[in-house]
Amino acid sequence: MNVLILGSGGREHAFAWKISQSKLLQNLYIAPGNAGTANCGINVAISLTDFEAIKNLVWEKDINLVLVGPEDPLVNGLHDFFLQDDILKDIPVIGPKKDGAQLEGSKDFSKAFMKKHGIPTARYGTFTKESLRDGFNFLDTLQAPFVLKADGLAAGKGVLIIQDIHQAKEELTNILINSKFGSAGNKVVIEEFLFGIELSVFVLTDGISYKILPAAKDYKRIGEGDTGLNTGGMGAVSPVPFADEKFIKIVEEKIIIPTINGLIKDGIDYCGFIFIGLMNCNGEPSVIEYNCRMGDPETEVVIPRIKSDLLDLLNGVANKNLNTKHYETINEIATTVVLVSGGYPGEFKKDILIQGIDNNNDSLIFHSGTKLVNDKVYTNGGRVFAVTSFGNTIKYAVNKSFDCANKINYEGKYFRGDIGQDLINY
Ligand code: AMP
Ligand code: GLY
Repeated sequence: MNVLILGSGGREHAFAWKISQSKLLQNLYIAPGNAGTANCGINVAISLTDFEAIKNLVWEKDINLVLVGPEDPLVNGLHDFFLQDDILKDIPVIGPKKDGAQLEGSKDFSKAFMKKHGIPTARYGTFTKESLRDGFNFLDTLQAPFVLKADGLAAGKGVLIIQDIHQAKEELTNILINSKFGSAGNKVVIEEFLFGIELSVFVLTDGISYKILPAAKDYKRIGEGDTGLNTGGMGAVSPVPFADEKFIKIVEEKIIIPTINGLIKDGIDYCGFIFIGLMNCNGEPSVIEYNCRMGDPETEVVIPRIKSDLLDLLNGVANKNLNTKHYETINEIATTVVLVSGGYPGEFKKDILIQGIDNNNDSLIFHSGTKLVNDKVYTNGGRVFAVTSFGNTIKYAVNKSFDCANKINYEGKYFRGDIGQDLINY
């Protein structure tokens, strides 16, 4: 098979690394990819907003399956574009159509979906500039902290958690009236704050059956001890100690099955990954969000823990016979530590020469923001690498990741030295 992976981050490198090991694979292309994916297949420099360029690539390279990494092309209708095109319509796209991608693309849609199908989630209300007053009144019924969410995609910045009621009302006004998040904030979801520990559960579905992938915990803040600004993710651990078999069974019964059945009932034919962000509130899971894709850096610990052939599983999604596919995971713990550019998630420099990535055999170095120039690797993003290691304990695995991270050199390198620390004695 010829496979095309769309995206350029650590997630896509992990996909490419895994799929490149498949016996079913002939040629692997990654668009646009990075310096790491170039070791797994052929990078093609096209923009993911250019659907015509994607079409030409699929046609020229005789692609048999397209795996979409990030949410934007899905929310913008790439899968629908394939189905509406005579040349592309029979080529499977792994990732939902626009309707299913709304689970991530619209917070209001996803909350209404959960409410309709009885899926546990925080109490909420949705408000527009016309109903600003009702929004204030709704805030008055809640206890601090107050959670405000821009309805649309806001590059991961659209969620505000605010302690003070006056400031919450001011921010609500900023989003709805002063367009703080542009059109993504034309509607705002206000919801109850959930107390507990967060984790992410991942599901692969062909729209009928599903496989529950390994769960993971992400470390979102830039600073150690979960301080400072939110990032795309600074590290991840899988499995999650408190997400034992019993807890995952509850998640399956109360969340996964109602989600799959809800999609079917609503006439949404969903093929791809569902990333379920959960709060574990004293053993009771509650959904914080859905994403219509895998997480980054969670993929860098989840995918390496899948023993089965990922391409075979994706074929199961494409052919709607996922239930017939063999699915097995490995028991070892995987941890990943993300190396970023100085300044991230604020301003940071690019094009910095990287050294020391060849002398690490004990870990998997997934590239997130790198590029190749004359056979040399340079930084090309805020998150630069995700270094994944295995072990029988979190401590052992994460120490291997730290050792490897210490050997990689570039100006401004930073990583969190406390990834997994909270889970070690859990
Ligand atoms: P989201 O984009 O919806 O995942 O929100 C981003 C982050 O905000 C989540 O990962 C949580 O840490 C936090 N968050 C969102 N909603 C809630 C909530 N209702 N209660 C507590 N924390 C929340
Ligand atoms: N690591 C969080 C995300 O991918 O959305």
